[in-house]
Amino acid sequence: MQNQKGHVIVLTYPAQGHINPLLQFAKRLTFKGLKATLATTHYTVKSIHETSVGVEPISDGYDESGFKQAPSVEAYLDSFKTVGSRALSELILKFSASGSPVNCIVYDSLLSWAIDVAKKFNIYGAVFLTNSASVCSMYWHIIHGHQAFPVKQETEPLLMPGLPPLALSDLPIFISQPAPHSPYLALILEQFSSLEENDWVFCNSFEELESELVKEMLGLWPLVMIGPMVPSSYLDQEIEGDRDYGANLWKPTTDQCMKWLEKKPPESVIYISFGSMADIAAKQVEEIAWGLKASNQNFLWVVKEPKTKLPDEFLSSIGETGLVVTWCNQLEVLAHQAVGCFITHCGWNSTLEGLSLGVPMVAMPQWSDQPTNAKFVEELWGVGVKVKKSEEGIVSREELEMCIREVMVGERSGQIKKNSLKWREAAKKAVSIGGTSDYNINEFILKLLSGQG
Ligand code: UDX
Repeated sequence: MQNQKGHVIVLTYPAQGHINPLLQFAKRLTFKGLKATLATTHYTVKSIHETSVGVEPISDGYDESGFKQAPSVEAYLDSFKTVGSRALSELILKFSASGSPVNCIVYDSLLSWAIDVAKKFNIYGAVFLTNSASVCSMYWHIIHGHQAFPVKQETEPLLMPGLPPLALSDLPIFISQPAPHSPYLALILEQFSSLEENDWVFCNSFEELESELVKEMLGLWPLVMIGPMVPSSYLDQEIEGDRDYGANLWKPTTDQCMKWLEKKPPESVIYISFGSMADIAAKQVEEIAWGLKASNQNFLWVVKEPKTKLPDEFLSSIGETGLVVTWCNQLEVLAHQAVGCFITHCGWNSTLEGLSLGVPMVAMPQWSDQPTNAKFVEELWGVGVKVKKSEEGIVSREELEMCIREVMVGERSGQIKKNSLKWREAAKKAVSIGGTSDYNINEFILKLLSGQG
């Protein structure tokens, strides 16, 4: 390792659920006195309005409209690997020439080629996991042959170190329903084949949340829990005004949402969003619409194309009870006292945000890591309920209505609320001065500044 000091490049995959936690990490490092530069693709660099960290574009080979321009997922990932490695190297050389040498690359785990660039320049390399440590440990066990793969339909629950017993349907879908030639599966497994080569394995989670798993991984990975990466002012930190991540791939409707929420009584509103990637089938959208209506609660629903997605009859019937927006500042909404329930797809960021802001959840997983997160929301952390799906994979309006009632007014609602507040406090504590995540970030900075790996 070279003994250069304190400049970290934080390299993100160009999707909202990846830019958010990595940008937040770069902000934390900057706040603590390090120089951090966020590197993201030309296409997404325009979406960043954060000014406390440096931002540099990096080519993925599709500079105009990114992923959408590529003929296939495989072509995109190949291009990002080849063109991105070169662009990252050039960026490092540029900083060296300008007297601000880089001594660490922190990279999104989907971009595992970045560790080779770190090695080439003999600087530190740290991977950043945007899924929970639990989910990542499952992939790691599979790639190392500790868990048979493909996983057979078991009658007995699956047992893996540090995890509660899991049914096949609780596993990430890349494991439970692996498509043999899926580029995503290959990409995911590739991340975990070289994990041990990193100087640090950062995870957007906190020790208390996944305590058993953290104990199990001790000595296996250089795992460092540094989350939740939620903007600081929501977690009572000293950074005033840090009320969004600093990047929006879509235009938020914050004023409209806040004005509408102001008129609603405390904990009377259901907030419903399925993150940035999920495309919900028309039949499912219809069931959600009529389930919401039947619940008789206020609701704020994020739908990217409401006119084409939502039934006309529903849209014309909602009046003041509902607000449909195309995108919002999810954190501002979740932090509002009017919100009493979060219907979520359980993307890892949304799960952490709901948990950190103490909002009870109805977990409605769609793909990727979400089934596992949903299971933990209900059973491990007790902060919500998980919907049951029909054989065709649909959540009926009756089921949704029942889950909403359970979380907002039902028998279990008191306990769920209590658990939500408990986890909110635990999340705040983890990132506050002296908390586990705060301590871990300080240790990283100290080692980086002293040149010890
Ligand atoms: C995906 C995966 O689902 C997730 O598990 C993985 O770790 C990252 O990639 P996504 O499906 O978009 O992400 O969901 P999520 O992880 O919840 O991230 C969405 C982000 O967009 C959240 O930070 C959320 O606050 C934000 N958001 C969502 C908004 O700011 N406004 C909205 O209207 C909706």
